[in-house]
Amino acid sequence: MARRFFVGGNFKMNGSLKTVKDIINGLNNAQLDPNVGMEVVVAPSAIYLVLARELLRKDVEVAAQNVFDKPNGAFTGEISVDQLKDAGVTWTILGHSERRVILQEENSFIATKTEAALKGGISVILCIGESLEQREASKTIDVVTSQLAAVAQCVQDWSDIVIAYEPIWAIGTGKVATTQQAQEVHLAIRKWLASNVSEQTSETTRIIYGGSVTDKNCKDLAKQPDIDGFLVGGASLKPACE
Ligand code: G3P
Repeated sequence: MARRFFVGGNFKMNGSLKTVKDIINGLNNAQLDPNVGMEVVVAPSAIYLVLARELLRKDVEVAAQNVFDKPNGAFTGEISVDQLKDAGVTWTILGHSERRVILQEENSFIATKTEAALKGGISVILCIGESLEQREASKTIDVVTSQLAAVAQCVQDWSDIVIAYEPIWAIGTGKVATTQQAQEVHLAIRKWLASNVSEQTSETTRIIYGGSVTDKNCKDLAKQPDIDGFLVGGASLKPACE
């Protein structure tokens, strides 16, 4: 079945008022082929979310890079689902490996944040992926399916989730996964969805790839049957390619 192609730009902790405005200007002037029907989402740092929503063309959505799992209240430094909605944000990234590794975010916390976002009407880009050590130990599928299983404990309706497979060893390294490596894991994720959630969820869920995606390697990756788009880091900060 045809799944709507999805491209997200994860700016991470990069940018300034000037550079974010420059990127938005580039996107506002980009030719997005209406026949392709691609879904485009940009995720600036939280401090720039309102600016991005106000300045961006309306056919491009804005995502946060994280959200808390509790409603508004005494949680200094956190951002709530309601505050994202108040800012016109419709998506959030959750489970990015940089938060799992650096901030030690557990699978269970990512699961409760996913549940809270979905319940509040925010769609989720759910990041999963293995380390180089785990890949070299042939544990890739075990790792990514355990990350999915944690979310399945809290979430039954996956229709507002896009899964982003981001092998940690490919993030920011220039060592993009081969088309075979990426397709193999994407297919395993799709099979896991069919066995553990539903056949329909397996068929309809977008599974996107992230990790050193560039305009040079995205075309071959996009040809793979189970790669439905990309979550782009470094390359999303550069002017759109021709
Ligand atoms: O979330 C996307 C990001 O982790 C990929 O980063 O710089 O390898 O494209 P990059």
